[in-house]
Amino acid sequence: MTRHLLDVTDFSVEEINAVLDMADAPIESLGTPLASKGASLIFEKPSNRTRHSMEMAVVQLGGHPIYTRGDEVGFDTREPVEDVARIMAGYHAVIAARVFEHSTVERMAAAVDADGTPVPIVNMLSDWSHPLQAFADALTMRQRLGALVGRTVAYIGDYANVARSLAEISLLLGMKVRLACPNGFDAGAAELERLAMIGDGDITQTTRPHEAAEGAHAVHTDTWVSMGQEREKEARRRAFEGYAVDESVMKGAAGDAIFMHCLPAHRDDEATSSVMDGPNSVIFDEAENRLHAQKAVMRWCLGR
Ligand code: CP
Ligand code: NVA
Repeated sequence: MTRHLLDVTDFSVEEINAVLDMADAPIESLGTPLASKGASLIFEKPSNRTRHSMEMAVVQLGGHPIYTRGDEVGFDTREPVEDVARIMAGYHAVIAARVFEHSTVERMAAAVDADGTPVPIVNMLSDWSHPLQAFADALTMRQRLGALVGRTVAYIGDYANVARSLAEISLLLGMKVRLACPNGFDAGAAELERLAMIGDGDITQTTRPHEAAEGAHAVHTDTWVSMGQEREKEARRRAFEGYAVDESVMKGAAGDAIFMHCLPAHRDDEATSSVMDGPNSVIFDEAENRLHAQKAVMRWCLGR
């Protein structure tokens, strides 16, 4: 069965740990599973980290990445999503896509599965989730905090793609998850119930950032204005007032707590520059870990 990565929950706890071990191992140990092969990287939205780290991950695994913008591919305008997936599968050993609608990556996976083509589909961010970010986040937390079981991760801000994947991987790895989100931008009752079924399901949500951060070992946030929401910028900045991760929020966290942000950041909105550039911040290691985590994810998807 072809292993796709559409969501963190496509992987078991054992598989996630195996991928994280691989990501931490010397680069030579991954070999060159993409030697003489291609990887199709399709982006419907802008990217800095994901594009560069995926292109370099493919190169370091011996392959050749080809970047295409979504408007060149024209999902469902120039041709159906399923046809794009089938055509790309004829040229490439991996197909990765950053999409507006999560259903696009699901449809791509269904199309290659229907043909029995062993080409993994990798989600490079959708409106629903950002699993590659979560792997890099877990890797960074593990490197900084050691064993993650029983540790507490706080997420403060907009419950969106990054928060969802972070919550999923943290719960799968046995962490306690504390969300602080304003009403209307929170996880919602059904989503909290779904998350409570993952791992030990130790998840709580509050509207108070200090409460979520109290004693936490890692404090995360993400932009308040995701790609595609630019027109809502001012309304969102008002809705998220009081949700910036600042020094007083970090003060309530555990003494050795780390600050994390997937980036790009709107500095001094969701997090103050003093926290982002402060001694507890690991944001640039987190960004670099995208490369290491993605090499391991692709290695795994290509056949352990
Ligand atoms: N964190 C992240 O995915 O960054 P980019 O949008 O720059 O790829
Ligand atoms: N939530 C953000 C994440 C960017 C990496 C967005 O979707 O734009």
